[in-house]
Amino acid sequence: MMITRTNPWLTLPLMLLAAVTLLTIPSPATAADIVCIQCHGKLPGKYGEPVQLWQGSIHAENGIACNSCHGGDPKDEANAMSPARGFLGKPKEADIPAFCGRCHVGVLKDYLSSLHGKALGRGGPTCVTCHGNHRVVKASLDLINEKNCSRCHSYQQAAKIKGVMARTESRILTIDAGIAKFKQQGFDTDKLEKGLFAVRNSFHSLFHTVDAARVENELARIETDLIKLEQLLTDIDNLQHQRKLIGAMATGGALLAALLFQLLRKTFDQTT
Ligand code: HEC
Ligand code: HEC
Ligand code: HEC
Ligand code: HEC
Ligand code: HEC
Repeated sequence: MMITRTNPWLTLPLMLLAAVTLLTIPSPATAADIVCIQCHGKLPGKYGEPVQLWQGSIHAENGIACNSCHGGDPKDEANAMSPARGFLGKPKEADIPAFCGRCHVGVLKDYLSSLHGKALGRGGPTCVTCHGNHRVVKASLDLINEKNCSRCHSYQQAAKIKGVMARTESRILTIDAGIAKFKQQGFDTDKLEKGLFAVRNSFHSLFHTVDAARVENELARIETDLIKLEQLLTDIDNLQHQRKLIGAMATGGALLAALLFQLLRKTFDQTT
């Protein structure tokens, strides 16, 4: 009988890598395999357009396909759009926030409590007014601009919110760069990364309240979290300086010892 032995130190990381890959990379087969895309991709006009638009979206990138939003059966061409298979169809304007909010729960909550959410169906914007429906891309404060935001009211309050948020955003980016630097140098940045992730999440849905006073209050709370993270980064920085100093002293000491040794040897050689 042959016994094959595998090195656990090799297979464990490989298994982890495989698991991580499966979890994070949506299989490229999903898009081509689903009947929604096969059929809609050949349709003209407004029934075919969603396919092209969706292909460049952050949703496509993350494996969120037609049926993730619209429901239906992506494997059965004949019954794909049957309500019995959970097909929801095209949402009416008033239903869009709940339609998108199934997955973006925190954003939906902030939106519904806002003046925008309260004006839903009475001239207020829905998610797709600002993000589009099929070509949804990564969101940023750039979405707040005079062209997008002065269609229905003055830009003044919008500009104020953007201004205070931009300042916090740039601090978050600085902390992010600091973490990346120390991570590359081999420091354990786990705690920092988790901290920043949490701050980021609460920060990025905040806009949807469109309430300048509330945004400023929340930013004050976020600020205390940022100060803690900045302090942790400074601590690492100090530690690194100390290490360098000790390292320099150690190297200096070693050099001195080598020099002394050489001198001693010379004197010893001369005496013999
Ligand atoms: C065999 C072709 C075919 C397949 C498969 C198919 N569709 Fe359609 N779909 C159509 C046609 C044709 C229309 C327009 C006429 C209609 O509404 O029936 C349409 C309409 C739609 C609409 C608009 C409905 C409305 O109320 O305006 C949506 C949304 C949609 N499809 C999504 C999907 C999704 C999601 C899937 C996969 C689960 C899918 N379709 C599968 C052919 C198809
Ligand atoms: C992120 C969610 C989301 C995804 C993913 C998505 N849709 Fe849609 N789709 C919507 C929304 C929201 C509307 C209604 C848009 C509106 O009223 O502006 C819509 C509308 C439609 C319509 C009706 C168009 C019209 O003008 O009547 C069709 C057809 C459609 N989608 C097909 C698709 C197909 C095919 C895919 C996959 C390639 C897809 N959708 C992926 C959210 C989505
Ligand atoms: C008035 C315009 C507007 C409306 C309406 C709107 N958004 Fe946003 N959304 C934005 C802006 C601007 C940002 C970027 C905020 C930032 O960078 O901090 C954003 C950010 C986001 C993000 C990213 C959050 C993150 O964690 O990075 C998601 C997801 C999102 N919106 C979904 C939605 C959904 C779902 C709705 C409807 C319930 C909606 N948005 C309604 C403008 C809007
Ligand atoms: C089936 C779940 C699902 C539905 C429904 C859905 N999304 Fe998403 N959305 C995701 C996932 C997953 C991501 C990518 C991961 C992330 O950034 O959160 C994403 C990303 C986003 C982003 C970019 C977030 C960022 O980091 O900047 C925006 C904006 C967004 N979605 C808006 C919408 C809008 C608008 C709708 C409705 C038309 C919608 N989503 C419907 C799951 C969904
Ligand atoms: C489709 C129309 C529409 C668009 C587009 C729109 N809004 Fe609004 N917004 C409203 C409505 C309706 C209200 C409710 C109060 C009102 O009538 O002015 C409102 C209220 C606001 C308020 C509160 C005003 C106050 O006096 O406190 C802010 C802030 C705001 N919007 C920001 C934005 C920003 C930022 C954008 C662009 C990303 C935007 N809005 C795009 C319709 C819109």
